[in-house]
Amino acid sequence: MFADADGELRGTNTQASLQQVLDHYHAGDWRAQRALITGDLIQDNSAEAYERFRELLLPLNMRMHCVPGNHDVRDLMRPVCNRPPFSYCATEEVGDWLLVGLDSCINGEAGGAVTPQELQRFEAIVAASPAKHIMVCLHHPPVAMGSKWLDTVGLKNGEELLRSLQQTGRVRLLVFGHVHQPYDAEHHGIQVIGTPSTCRQFKPGSDDFGVDDRPPAYRRITLHSNGNNDNELIWVNES
Ligand SMILES: [Fe+2]
Repeated sequence: MFADADGELRGTNTQASLQQVLDHYHAGDWRAQRALITGDLIQDNSAEAYERFRELLLPLNMRMHCVPGNHDVRDLMRPVCNRPPFSYCATEEVGDWLLVGLDSCINGEAGGAVTPQELQRFEAIVAASPAKHIMVCLHHPPVAMGSKWLDTVGLKNGEELLRSLQQTGRVRLLVFGHVHQPYDAEHHGIQVIGTPSTCRQFKPGSDDFGVDDRPPAYRRITLHSNGNNDNELIWVNES
């Protein structure tokens, strides 16, 4: 989002693009209980853009878990995303599942890392929860995407994070944003999923930065009590 409703990113009106995704959801039969928003909510470092984001998503009428991305400004995002029904890097138990949002951002850098403090916070949350299954939500991918430029701005300690998550024996699913393209693979026994943007996408497998011509997208994830999930990637208005 931009403070300006006409704000464009690489020739696309970001508000109109997000609205297309929301309209697709509202027009369909599939109903969600939660929304996970995996960072990079705004582009122009303005509090107004966060308020615009909030107004646009409120009609979803559900709890919405947000984590920051490298384009976010924590001090502006936190107060807006901490007001219900939004939450910021929060934790929630839903049935047999524990949802945990992690902060993977480093001030002033496009790439990320999960700090030792954030990892300790996660371990304390997990130790206090009886949930059988855990889903982790963060902005940066903990694995290489096979795209030279993108892999220089991933999660610096992705392997360490995945090993820590594996040690809990309960993390089944990790979802991330940042890469503007689909990803779904298993690492250390954990299903790792990336979802394209609600705006423009990046060219998969490209050595240099490149914008793809695929449409906005979102992903529908259904968590089952046995630890499995079903998920479906929805490309919005793809001809
Ligand atoms: Fe990002």
